[in-house]
Amino acid sequence: MVARNQNLVSITWGSSVKFSIVRFFVSLVLAVFLVAAVYMAREYVSFNYMLMVPLDVTFSGQSECDLFSGKWVFDNESYPLYKEKECKFMSDQLACNKFGRQDLGFQHWRWQPHHCDIPRFNATKLLEKLRNKRMVFVGDSLNRGQWVSMVCLLDSSIHDPNLKIMNNSGSNLISFKALGYNATVEFYWEPLLVESNSDDPVNHKLPERIVRSQSIEKHARVWTDADILVFNSYLWWREPHIKVLWGSFKDENGIYKEVEMRRSYEMALKTWSDWLEIHVDRAKTRLFFISMSPVHEKAEEWGASKDQNCYSETDMITTEGYRSNETNLDMTRIVENTIDELKTRGLKVDLINITQLSEYRKEGHPSIYRKQWVALSEEQLSNPSSYADCIHWCLPGVPDVWNELLYAYIFQQ
Ligand SMILES: *[C@@H]1O[C@H](CO)[C@@H](O)[C@H](O)[C@H]1NC(C)=O
Ligand SMILES: *[C@@H]1O[C@H](CO)[C@@H](O)[C@H](O)[C@H]1NC(C)=O
Ligand SMILES: *[C@@H]1O[C@H](CO)[C@@H](O)[C@H](O)[C@H]1NC(C)=O
Ligand SMILES: *[C@@H]1O[C@H](CO)[C@@H](O)[C@H](O)[C@H]1NC(C)=O
Ligand SMILES: *[C@@H]1O[C@H](CO)[C@@H](O)[C@H](O)[C@H]1NC(C)=O
Ligand SMILES: *[C@@H]1O[C@H](CO)[C@@H](O)[C@H](O)[C@H]1NC(C)=O
Repeated sequence: MVARNQNLVSITWGSSVKFSIVRFFVSLVLAVFLVAAVYMAREYVSFNYMLMVPLDVTFSGQSECDLFSGKWVFDNESYPLYKEKECKFMSDQLACNKFGRQDLGFQHWRWQPHHCDIPRFNATKLLEKLRNKRMVFVGDSLNRGQWVSMVCLLDSSIHDPNLKIMNNSGSNLISFKALGYNATVEFYWEPLLVESNSDDPVNHKLPERIVRSQSIEKHARVWTDADILVFNSYLWWREPHIKVLWGSFKDENGIYKEVEMRRSYEMALKTWSDWLEIHVDRAKTRLFFISMSPVHEKAEEWGASKDQNCYSETDMITTEGYRSNETNLDMTRIVENTIDELKTRGLKVDLINITQLSEYRKEGHPSIYRKQWVALSEEQLSNPSSYADCIHWCLPGVPDVWNELLYAYIFQQ
């Protein structure tokens, strides 16, 4: 069969060679025309796609691509980006596997923006960028979680134990240093950004929250000269009212006043932005603000039973655009307004919008799988959801992706 067909082909060739040459040229012209047309159409249609990067290069600007709008894709080839047990600097608050969590599916998800790719996280490349520099995460325990994630991401590429050091002297500042690069990556505890009665890095759980909305210098002097600053502040504001203090904590003449939360948040961010405007070296320092990290404390919001929370959840929420009604968008608006205002004064702060992508991840929290600092009562033990942590995030996990987004911005010039 095959041989006969070949014969047929060669006969056709032989008998109509001239005709074939003409046809060949006609086809060639047609083909050239077609290719050009397809090429031009492609260029027109997928102009945006062509700007969008191969994996290791930076993406091209927010206007072409919203990195924060996308979906989670299962990827157990590349994720997790490091192993929980292998990160020497892992926190017991976030080491879920170490504290008994067996379902580890939450570690295998990649964030896929709808219209482009996130550049691949390359720890060596980031360390080179941070050579002789200082990067400081400033904020609350969620920002601390992101910092631990960043340290683990970097740590995984530094194999010599003598080339990395952690200094936790019990002050507000914890410091990781990659000695081979003289690169410092720090966390500074300052949960309300301005001074407050929750500033002690260990003993900060007080019944009543008091902020000095006008005062930031005590903290800010420690981090102002950093090369990269990553702020957050949200969780500690989740009260209808906050007590604001004019004067110092020691001052007998201090004036206290209950202020509606949104207003006090606005005042605090104003103080923060005024400080940045006047003290930050624009030629040197890059500024980032991490948006609200959502909580999963009310299971009825995603259709599970009323008295439950994130405890025993093993899957994420798949409803596109799902949002807990605990997520206070008014606060995001205040952050945005503050940042926009700063821009008019010539200072750029990039908002890393992690809220929506994290909303889906009800299964990403430590729940009961973390170190308990105080012994649990019989009653608690009989009802695990009563002590489940549905606020912080297991590592490796969701905050690694926040850092991938931060990484994308750091390399975007
Ligand atoms: C954050 O990203 C989500 C998803 O793209 C979007 O709906 C939301 O408006 C963004 N928020 C801000 C403050 O940019
Ligand atoms: C990834 O998951 C698939 C499906 O669950 C499984 O067959 C495969 O062995 C996994 N690969 C790795 C590297 O874990
Ligand atoms: C990571 O970055 C380093 C330094 O820029 C480079 O030499 C290396 O090839 C990169 N690794 C990958 C996997 O792209
Ligand atoms: C090491 O890094 C710090 C910033 O963290 C910088 O001030 C110092 O000059 C660097 N040292 C050298 C020798 O470059
Ligand atoms: C650790 O930090 C403390 C206070 O921030 C400082 O006094 C001390 O010198 C640091 N130790 C090392 C080994 O860098
Ligand atoms: C929040 O969601 C719950 C459950 O869906 C609902 O019952 C409640 O009214 C909502 N609260 C607000 C303030 O929207």
